[in-house]
Amino acid sequence: MRTISLVTQKGGSGKSTLASCIAVAAQEAGERVFIIDMDPLKTLVNWSKLRGEADIPVEVVPSAKLAQVIAALEKKGVTLCIIDTPGTSSKETEAAMRASDLIVIPARPNVFDLWASETTRKAAKEARREFVFVLNQCPPANQSARVEQGSKALEAMGGLLTPLIQARVDFQEAARNGWGVTELNPYGDAADEVRKLWSSMKRRLAKGKTSSRKAA
Ligand SMILES: Nc1ncnc2c1ncn2[C@@H]1O[C@H](COP(=O)(O)OP(=O)(O)OP(=O)(O)O)[C@@H](O)[C@H]1O
Ligand SMILES: [Mg+2]
Repeated sequence: MRTISLVTQKGGSGKSTLASCIAVAAQEAGERVFIIDMDPLKTLVNWSKLRGEADIPVEVVPSAKLAQVIAALEKKGVTLCIIDTPGTSSKETEAAMRASDLIVIPARPNVFDLWASETTRKAAKEARREFVFVLNQCPPANQSARVEQGSKALEAMGGLLTPLIQARVDFQEAARNGWGVTELNPYGDAADEVRKLWSSMKRRLAKGKTSSRKAA
């Protein structure tokens, strides 16, 4: 089983949106997915209620029990555990980072998010875990200077997953129904981006596995 956490010390960058959409896309690609919601706002618990199906279980887990729950999920045959975290530094965020094979740090292409990304990067380094950035809510003209600056900054900070995720109505519509964008509009551009993003994450996870085996 592989564990991914979505982390930033910044509200609204898209942690819960990307966590739910990646969960659905990964499940469609054959993974057995389990979501752990560590945000006191319980965004993904509520998303799951709207969804109304138990195909992707979502559970609230306190930080003190996280390691134990993750070990139990692995024994049950879950192949991908996705952890959503609050938008502030907290004991939940720290526990999630420590439990992760890969920390995914979403940022919007603006300077405030980039500053917050730097803080999260430091925390991920301290936790000695693999981390990578995703640029989310990009304006439609990808070539804009703001997007280019954001991409370069995140690449320099430790790596940017492809593709860039654009601001698209599908993300908000899918959330409203408890779906992922690949369910809402399977042939849409948002669905295409999320499937590609999951492929990039998967490759990154596989790379991490190889290097930790080498290190062992
Ligand atoms: N790519 C996108 N396109 C359009 N809207 C988006 C996109 N990503 C996120 N959003 C919207 O931005 C808002 C914030 O997203 P979300 O709640 O996922 O952020 P978050 O990082 O989980 O925030 P918090 O730290 O408060 O939990 C939501 O209204 C969501 O629908
Ligand atoms: Mg959230």
